[in-house]
Amino acid sequence: MEEFKGNTQLKVPTHVSIIMDGNGRWAKLRGKERVYGHANGVESVRACVEAAVENGVRYLSLFAFSEENWGRPAEEVNTLMGLMFKAIANEIEALRKQRVRFRVLGDYSRLDPSLADAIRAAEVSTVPAAGEEPVLDLIIFLSYSGKWDILQAAKRLAADYKDDPAALDKVGPEEFAGKLVTAGIPDPDLIIRTSGESRISNYLLWQAAYSEFLFVDTLWPDFRKNEFRSALEEYSKRDRRYGKVK
Ligand code: IPE
Ligand code: IPE
Ligand code: MG
Repeated sequence: MEEFKGNTQLKVPTHVSIIMDGNGRWAKLRGKERVYGHANGVESVRACVEAAVENGVRYLSLFAFSEENWGRPAEEVNTLMGLMFKAIANEIEALRKQRVRFRVLGDYSRLDPSLADAIRAAEVSTVPAAGEEPVLDLIIFLSYSGKWDILQAAKRLAADYKDDPAALDKVGPEEFAGKLVTAGIPDPDLIIRTSGESRISNYLLWQAAYSEFLFVDTLWPDFRKNEFRSALEEYSKRDRRYGKVK
């Protein structure tokens, strides 16, 4: 339990994950192109990073681009990748100074090699010095899908055991989770989806097994610090039972 502004006692989730949805509709409401919504969505990312740090959230993960989003018009895909490039160029130094560790998880093989290189360099530059703990881990899911993650984990596991397939029998969920791209990251306590859609859209399928879900009508470019804090308040009211009797 941590002290919360307004003297409300909050149970602060360790890991908050957000399916950032509704940029296109936000732009349309203003008579603008979809890309205008994406550009304004970047401001919400900045606000949520600040809010996560201020409220003591240790991991913030954001679904930025799904495997299925590759099927959008090339112009929109290029804009989204360009925004990622720009955000890395403009924001990484500030994140590093705030001791935020930046990571991007997903299928890198589909990314433009120059973007993949920029991401890797940004990741390396925010790795904390030996013995230092980051204030926040900021994880961006890019070119990601839950089914892809589970499949790549299964393939890697099978490769590891190719000389002793009988030993696969002993593999448990923890070892399997160690093959997912999220290895070492605690499962999300709270998954928020903006824009009024109540679905998971092939996001963290394995890792969401016991996450609390919060679906809000707010469109992503309008989801700022107050909305983030309201989500934490809502999480505080949840009773997580994990299948047991309390
Ligand atoms: C979220 O907003 C951004 C991505 C999925 C990349 P959308 O682009 O899905 O916006 P809507 O849902 O069409 O309003
Ligand atoms: C989910 O949003 C993916 C991301 C937020 C990156 P979409 O807008 O792609 O999802 P659907 O198509 O409405 O399910
Ligand atoms: Mg959408």
